Amino acid sequence: MSLPDSQLPQKVTVYEVGPRDGLQNEPGVVPLAAKRDFVTALAKAGLPFVEATSFVHPKWVPQLADAKDLLASLEPVAGVRYPVLVPNMKGLERALEAGVDSVAVFLAASESFSRKNTNASLAETFERARPVVERAKAEGLWVRGYLSVVWGCPYEGPIDPNAVAPLAAALVEMGVEELSLGDTIGVADPAGVRRVLDVVAPNVGLERIALHFHDTRGTALANVLAGLQAGVSVFDSSAGGLGGCPYAPGASGNLATEDLVFMLDGMGIETGVDVEAVRAASLAMAEVLGRSLSGRYAAAGPFRPQGKIES
Ligand code: HMG
Ligand code: MG
Repeated sequence: MSLPDSQLPQKVTVYEVGPRDGLQNEPGVVPLAAKRDFVTALAKAGLPFVEATSFVHPKWVPQLADAKDLLASLEPVAGVRYPVLVPNMKGLERALEAGVDSVAVFLAASESFSRKNTNASLAETFERARPVVERAKAEGLWVRGYLSVVWGCPYEGPIDPNAVAPLAAALVEMGVEELSLGDTIGVADPAGVRRVLDVVAPNVGLERIALHFHDTRGTALANVLAGLQAGVSVFDSSAGGLGGCPYAPGASGNLATEDLVFMLDGMGIETGVDVEAVRAASLAMAEVLGRSLSGRYAAAGPFRPQGKIES
């Protein structure tokens, strides 16, 4: 069931993943100072969550091997959290040593992706995540759970929403505060978004759901609209459209934060995010990477009317 426009959420939380999802997928390692400036600029742009890095195995994701040093270099910004990914108890312990206040565990909706991404079966990853979530909560951390390849797996193809529902419910039952449903390889469309929400939301509650769209095939903003119409009010995005998963062949950039904020601004939906400040952060990172980014707003710039044409 979808809501009429007047009933769309009036406020949306934009959860920034560029420094983690974006930079984990770059061929090279971005220097620490450039990462610090990127995270800081995004926090100052009004994004309430800036997922900063990962405490995964540094051999698996060498791009983020400097996680501890990066966190130590960040200044706190009022009202902003810097969550980090943790794959297991070892990752959580490293994150706790670094003084984090929020973490995200990540699981998959397909067996093959689970094995490729985390070297373990689905059942093993759920077993492994449970004590991690428990310990994180006991330490007073805010905990998010990701479910990847919800709309399609690079190894197994389309995923049945009815197979997603019990996995989503299990993650929420573990105690995660927020559940991010991921279209890791950008194959979802608005009808598919509704199909998944129809079966997942009744068990976990719409207010807990975040949507994480990669824009590989150009459907991410349409998918956001489908999510809004269903009542979702948390969306993940990445400055400049950086992003991908090294263990998901074909995964390209996330929905760009500027593109999302520009659309929400236009719809009168409040985010608290300064789109131009995000664009400046993206353009600075594009300089560091030595290439242009995939985000459309970053390339096009603000809408500045040139003045009326006299007739
Ligand atoms: P493994 O090799 O099976 O680990 O990797 P293990 O448990 O067998 O341990 C082997 C060694 O690694 C041991 O050391 C451990 O201590 C060490 P040894 O005793 O041999 O000296 N180790 C660690 N060291 C540092 N940090 C750790 C850690 N864990 C074990 N955390 C593991 C298993 C899960 C660690 C590995 O597969 C891994 O790091 N995978 C991460 C892959 C990744 O980061 N993928 C991208 C993120 S997910 C994503 O992008 C999707 C998302 O954006 C949503 C969407 O788009 O859908 C979130
Ligand atoms: Mg992702």
